[in-house]
Amino acid sequence: MRERLEGTVALVTGASSGIGEAATRALAAEGAKVAVVARRRDRLEALAAEIGGFVVEADITDQAQAVGAVERTVAELGRLDIVVNNAGMMLLGPAETALVEEWERMVAINVQGLLYVSHAAIQPLLAAAQDGPRNVADMVNISSVAGRVARSGSGVYNLTKFGVGAFSDSLRQEFAERHLRVSLVEPGAVATELTDHMRPELRDATRKRFADIERLEAEDIADAIAYIVTRPRRVAINEILIRPTEQAW
Ligand SMILES: NC(=O)c1ccc[n+]([C@@H]2O[C@H](COP(=O)([O-])OP(=O)(O)OC[C@H]3O[C@@H](n4cnc5c(N)ncnc54)[C@H](OP(=O)(O)O)[C@@H]3O)[C@@H](O)[C@H]2O)c1
Repeated sequence: MRERLEGTVALVTGASSGIGEAATRALAAEGAKVAVVARRRDRLEALAAEIGGFVVEADITDQAQAVGAVERTVAELGRLDIVVNNAGMMLLGPAETALVEEWERMVAINVQGLLYVSHAAIQPLLAAAQDGPRNVADMVNISSVAGRVARSGSGVYNLTKFGVGAFSDSLRQEFAERHLRVSLVEPGAVATELTDHMRPELRDATRKRFADIERLEAEDIADAIAYIVTRPRRVAINEILIRPTEQAW
């Protein structure tokens, strides 16, 4: 059974590319009005024009901008039923030669940005859960296989994504009785821009690891997100781990 999203408002962080862009299309196709949040305004405008969405240009590592993104969405679209905490960054490499600045960037977006948006969204989500059209609200947090399995060379990315998993389950327990569902999605390798931001020598090594497997498409993860938020009110999908079929690790 599937509940469509007409009359609901969703906010997707990191909507300017990859999983966030695909999730935005999937939620809009189910009938949600979507606020698209990221830094690249041109990409957001093209997407919003396609789906009739609301553009919020924001760097969510800045708390004021993250809070402003939530507040502008509620002010402009009237409510907030669904938040997809998707914006993130992966900068892999040995700890021995790592740049601390890269660690800080990952913590800033994967952890702090997600916390700022989540904190600002809790009250509007609880309010949406109390009234129609669905009498339920959703926070979907995008972690990773790296949030379940640590690997050499991935320590800080692992740290951020394990943290997202712990935070999500704590919130899930806190809000269960008030019908705010908190879900965790843990993708394996997905063909997106994620590795583009790594230093070239590290990026090439990472890409080589996945060269022989058929990676997931962003739409495969968007499909899972749409599945989570279209379940009937009584059904909470707590966690979904999705690997490419050929990804054994
Ligand atoms: N691709 C994979 O293999 C994979 C696997 C597991 C988990 N994930 C997770 O999936 C999520 C999405 O990644 P993706 O693969 O779709 O990569 P992507 O195409 O690089 O998307 C990352 C998104 O995050 C946004 N972003 C980055 N910094 C931001 C900031 N400071 N403020 C606001 N938005 C910011 C980017 O937009 P702007 O640059 O325009 O701000 C972009 O829209 C991440 O959390 C990632 O860890 C990806």
